[in-house]
Amino acid sequence: MDRFNKIIKSDKYKKILEGLSLAEQDRIYCLHNFEHSCDVARIMYITALEKNIPIPKEIIYTTAFLHDIGRIEQYKNSTPHEVASVEISKEFLADFDREEQDMILCAISEHRSKGERSPLGEMLSYADTKSRMCLNCKAISTCKWRADEMNMEVLV
Ligand SMILES: [Fe+2]
Ligand SMILES: [Fe+2]
Repeated sequence: MDRFNKIIKSDKYKKILEGLSLAEQDRIYCLHNFEHSCDVARIMYITALEKNIPIPKEIIYTTAFLHDIGRIEQYKNSTPHEVASVEISKEFLADFDREEQDMILCAISEHRSKGERSPLGEMLSYADTKSRMCLNCKAISTCKWRADEMNMEVLV
């Protein structure tokens, strides 16, 4: 997990998260912070274990911790954040080989799409949605999620 830890310990990564946390300081809906990435990574990894999906843990964690990194661009200039996240993530993946990079970037680009996804993209999208605890959310009455999408039970 050295390559993953190098990313999240980097000044560049920390700075992006600081900027994002500032941009979301008054947001009442789901945040895109370190905790969210952690929740997504763990749900992805549990899913991989339960379904015997042979994707290395480091690829899973790296994907989860980079998937929303472009969110600030969405606030600034309406760039869809999966697009911005792919561009910014490229700067963090120098230690990964080409195949690994493609797999991670593809999953990030797919995480909000409704169409066909790669196995890693599917896992990311699932974990991203399931990580949100609507059951315990104070902003539920004005949230744009449909009632049938909301997570009203803890995932087991
Ligand atoms: Fe996202
Ligand atoms: Fe997310």
